[in-house]
Amino acid sequence: MKLKQLITMAVVALTLFSVQAFETNDDIKNRIKPVGSVHVAGAASASAAADAGPRSGKDIYNGACAACHAAGVLGAPKTQDAGDWSPRLADKGRDGVWKSAIAGINAMPPMGACGNCSDDDILAAIDYMIEGVE
Ligand code: HEC
Repeated sequence: MKLKQLITMAVVALTLFSVQAFETNDDIKNRIKPVGSVHVAGAASASAAADAGPRSGKDIYNGACAACHAAGVLGAPKTQDAGDWSPRLADKGRDGVWKSAIAGINAMPPMGACGNCSDDDILAAIDYMIEGVE
């Protein structure tokens, strides 16, 4: 009986989490629409050809970082939001925030939990996230 309840709770928690992740992904898709990307199913394919080749910072971001950084989940600094990023950059600089992204900081997992990201991939994703900020 107790085990059953635990399992039910775990299933409910997982379901809630995945629903939340979906909403976040929709957010991201709306956000990046004007730029165009192979990841945006059904969006205007104006610049799809530009996305061939190695992963760009934006690709890495979309794959590994957007789930938290698009909407500011758990207090993550929001992508290309000067109000969120400027104080961090002023305090630690680009290298400093890069280091904490690699090592992890508070609720931010090391490497953003990206299993196939190199340190340079992390920096490329950061550069995308802070584009236009400073
Ligand atoms: C599970 C959610 C989550 C994911 C996934 C995630 N982040 Fe974060 N990130 C956070 C949170 C939360 C913070 C704020 C941590 C704090 O300062 O308390 C943060 C902060 C940061 C910072 C600022 C660090 C500083 O020193 O101020 C950088 C840079 C960063 N993330 C980069 C990334 C990159 C690059 C990725 C993808 C490879 C990524 N994050 C994926 C949650 C996430």
